[in-house]
Order: sequence, then structure tokens, then C-alpha cells
Amino acid sequence: MKRDFISVADWSADELLELLARARELKRLLKAGERPQTLLGRTVALYFEKPSLRTHVTFEAGVAQMGGHAILLRPEQVGIGTRESPRDVARNLSCWVDALMTRTYSHELIQQLAREAIVPVINGLSDFLHPCQAMADLQTIAEKVEPKSAVIAYVGDGNNVANSLILLSATLGLALRVATPVSHRPSNRVWQQAEAIASRSGAQIAWTEDPVEAVRGADFVYTDTWTSMGQESEAELRREIFARYQVNAGLLAGAPDAWILHCLPAHRGEEITDEILDGPRSLILDQAENRLHAQKAILERVILGSSSGAE
Ligand code: CP
Ligand code: NVA
Repeated sequence: MKRDFISVADWSADELLELLARARELKRLLKAGERPQTLLGRTVALYFEKPSLRTHVTFEAGVAQMGGHAILLRPEQVGIGTRESPRDVARNLSCWVDALMTRTYSHELIQQLAREAIVPVINGLSDFLHPCQAMADLQTIAEKVEPKSAVIAYVGDGNNVANSLILLSATLGLALRVATPVSHRPSNRVWQQAEAIASRSGAQIAWTEDPVEAVRGADFVYTDTWTSMGQESEAELRREIFARYQVNAGLLAGAPDAWILHCLPAHRGEEITDEILDGPRSLILDQAENRLHAQKAILERVILGSSSGAE
């Protein structure tokens, strides 16, 4: 049975920790100048409906480092839903490539492609989830402290990045406080799923409307854009709704030693100030770097069926 990487909640805590261990190993090896050729002769299709810097480059570079080849597909070439159906695209791609990475607006489209494809499908971001980001974030946190000993605060929009962070925290039994406006809480679907998982894992996941309360004493403070891709027409309204959720020196007075996380791209001066984003506690480049290693581990796991690179 193939395994897709659509949501971190589809994977057990042990499996996620195995992925983390392999990502850390791959990082160590790359820094030592070693590039295990575990995907020699393999191909991966990368399908992007939305813009990307980090996801595109880290998947393409990661596949190349492992000896494989990535094929970039744009919607205007493929025309999923216009030129041909998702089913036909997924079944054709399955004849030629070993895995498919997709970034789509609709989460349902990724789920449909995964249902129809014979090969594994990796979610490179949908309007609902961003699981590869969550794995890189876990790696970044684990480079500083044992994740279970940390308090993580997420401040801002209850969006795809927040949803995956919530599901990751629930699965691994982490402590996460989420602060969003009532109107932009994480989806009920995610919250209910997270509560069910947390009741077994012991995760401490709490929501508040108050960013000051969420950040007080936190070890990590995470934020993301207030206007995600596809929401550009709401940008002005969102700047008003989220104004008091800006991560700035005032908010961080309650957590002066907190490490700062942001998945990027940032809207500087909106959800976070330059001073904090570029400050000594910022881990934004570690997160970006870890996208490469985390995704290489995911690629090996779904293509080869193991977290060690061996088939
Ligand atoms: N964080 C992230 O996914 O970045 P890109 O949109 O540039 O891929
Ligand atoms: N929430 C953002 C994340 C970008 C990586 C978006 O969906 O645009």
C-alpha cells in the first residue's frame, strides 16, 4: 500500500520521529559533503498552482542531491480540470514518475489526486494544510530543545500553517498555544481532530483570542502572513482585523528569550517587524534550510518505503 504525505495526522508519532531522525541525518551528511544516492534514476513531478520559492527549490534540489530528477509542471501546461480530469492526470503521471508533489488552492484536489494516483502524493501546501513546513519546523525546534519540553505560541491567522502545526503538536504530544481573532480561528475540523489525537498523546493545545496571554513565557513564537495566497483581495480588511496580533518587541516583552519562527514569505511590518524577523532570536533561515532535509526524508519514506534510505 502506498503512503501519501497529505497531513501529518495521517502518520503516527513514531513515524514522524523517524522522519525527523532521518532528516537530521541527511543534514549532517550533506554538511559533511555526502549525498546518498537513494533516489538514483527516480523521478518526481512537482505541480504548482501557486507561487513558491522554498518549496520549489528545496524539492527540486533535494531530488537532485539524491540522484533523481524532478519535473516542474505548471497549471497552464497541464490544465487539471480544464484540459483533462484530475483522474486522467493522476493516472498518467503514475505511469512515468515515482511520486507527485502538489501545491494547489483546493485541498480536495490534492486528496482526489492522491486517491487516483498509483504513486505517492506529497502535499506541498493547500489552502488547508502545509505538512512539509510543519516537519521542517519540528526539525528547527528540535535543534534548540527537546520539543516535548517546549511551549510554542502561534500568533495570527488560523491558516494552513497553523492547522499543520496544531496537528503536528497533537500527534507528538507538544504544548501549543494558538492566538487568533475569533473570526479567524483554526478550522473546527482541525481543532476536533487535534483534540481527539491530544486525548491520546497528552498534547496540551489551547486557543485564546489574546496574543499577550499566548506568548507569555513561550519558548517559541511562530507567526505567518495575515493574507495567504489567494486571499489578496482581503488584504486591507485583514490588516485591520489582525493589527493587534503583530509579533513585535512589545508583544515579546512577555517572552524575551523566545525563539522566533516564520515559514516565509513574510509581509514585513504587518504580522512581524523587521527588528524581530532579523533579530538574534530569529530562526527563519534554519526553518527554510530544514525544508530541504525534512522533504528529502519524506521523499525517501514515500518512494522507498523506509526512513533510512534503504529499500
Ligand atoms: N514556506 C513556503 O512554503 O515557502 P514558499 O511559498 O516560497 O514555497
Ligand atoms: N499561509 C501562507 C503560507 C505560505 C508558505 C499561504 O498559504 O500563502
